[in-house]
Amino acid sequence: MKPFVFQNPTKLYFGQGQIRHLIAETNQLGSRVLLLYGGGSIKQNGVYDAVMGSLKEAGAEVFELSGVEPNPRISTVRRGAAMCREHRIDWVLAVGGGSVIDCAKAIAAAAVFDADFWDVVSHKRSAQGALPIGTVLTLAATGSEMNAGSVITNEETQDKMGWNSPHTFPRFSILDPAYTVTVPRDHTVNGIVDMMSHVLEQYFHHDEATPVQDGFCESIMQAIVETAPQLVQDLGNVELREIIMYCGTMALNGVLSMGVTGDWANHDMEHAVSAVYDIPHGGGLAILFPHWMDVAVEQHPERFAQLAENVFGIKSAGRSPLEVGKEGIQALRNFWRSIGAPSKLSDYGIDDSRLVLMAGKATTFGPRGRFITLTLEDIADIYKRAL
Ligand code: NZQ
Ligand code: ZN
Repeated sequence: MKPFVFQNPTKLYFGQGQIRHLIAETNQLGSRVLLLYGGGSIKQNGVYDAVMGSLKEAGAEVFELSGVEPNPRISTVRRGAAMCREHRIDWVLAVGGGSVIDCAKAIAAAAVFDADFWDVVSHKRSAQGALPIGTVLTLAATGSEMNAGSVITNEETQDKMGWNSPHTFPRFSILDPAYTVTVPRDHTVNGIVDMMSHVLEQYFHHDEATPVQDGFCESIMQAIVETAPQLVQDLGNVELREIIMYCGTMALNGVLSMGVTGDWANHDMEHAVSAVYDIPHGGGLAILFPHWMDVAVEQHPERFAQLAENVFGIKSAGRSPLEVGKEGIQALRNFWRSIGAPSKLSDYGIDDSRLVLMAGKATTFGPRGRFITLTLEDIADIYKRAL
């Protein structure tokens, strides 16, 4: 494994009823709070009332910004940052899924940035600081609740980019699985695909002597493969929601990347698709990842054989790694289809008219990936396979 530095300062409150800690956190972070949420799910399922109850009990003055879009936009970030400055906000509380949390990180950093924040999202400059951020997670998917990353869309240029800063780790995150029981089946499945993809992006590496890291990845994937089929039949089951919620957070809080360099090309490819077509991130990954695997298995079959054997229980005795690896890819395809994930770009009405445009966006910073390297042409080819 490689030398590494690990630091994750986010305080996690995990489990049912943990919202009670919001009062003490509010007392610590300040009384002027920007409350950020999405299109209204938290008003329907009671989470808004629970959060407001705690904020009021702590004596906070609450300023609200609602309507954060799935695939949050830079225009919303600018609006939120202006509110922070105008109302002298002490800290930002995100209540929602990855989109709301990512938007909160950008608002918190934009509020103390001296120029237009797209410069930071597009990697021209670094964030200079950020207001403190807290989160109440309502959808298990991105891991944004315990990492410093944020993904923002520029709706004018149709670019979607990930950025991060040491300033944007949430100070605390409250993860109550009961808050996720109202997530509909499609977003539940998208979230499951996203967290599995995060594990896979880190599992496909060329570092040696990493049995613990690989085992962590495999155990998260095994748990998802066992739990997800039950959950999609029983969306209100809090115990199953809890397992999936824990998987989502552990998949992208830095633990799996200790000492290894993952790939991440599938995320670059998907962000370009959702930049242009505004589709759900997990749905895009479900479509693209198996096609990337079809390419990668030909170059490095051993890793795929290990995945097939250890996660999908495929027997390898007397067979070539390539044969076993390909059977594992088919097992993943079957698994994602069985829980209701999309499998073709045309499932979202995407045709071949903008494949090269998207491949260009995916390779803005040059060829993608570490496990295998993809040029613009390679990526256009994967999109074509995925039609
Ligand atoms: O807006 P509301 O009404 O709240 O509805 C949301 C939204 O429509 C709904 N939802 C959330 N919690 C719910 C609920 N509906 C019912 N009950 C609940 N409890 O779910 C819909 C999707 O929400 P969203 O936040 O967009 O989903 P997700 O968590 O998958 O976030 C996706 C965004 O995160 C980025 C993606 O690119 C995308 O922009 N990512 C962020 C990452 C990070 N920061 O580390 C890593 C990821 O790879 C990813 O790129
Ligand atoms: Zn993702």
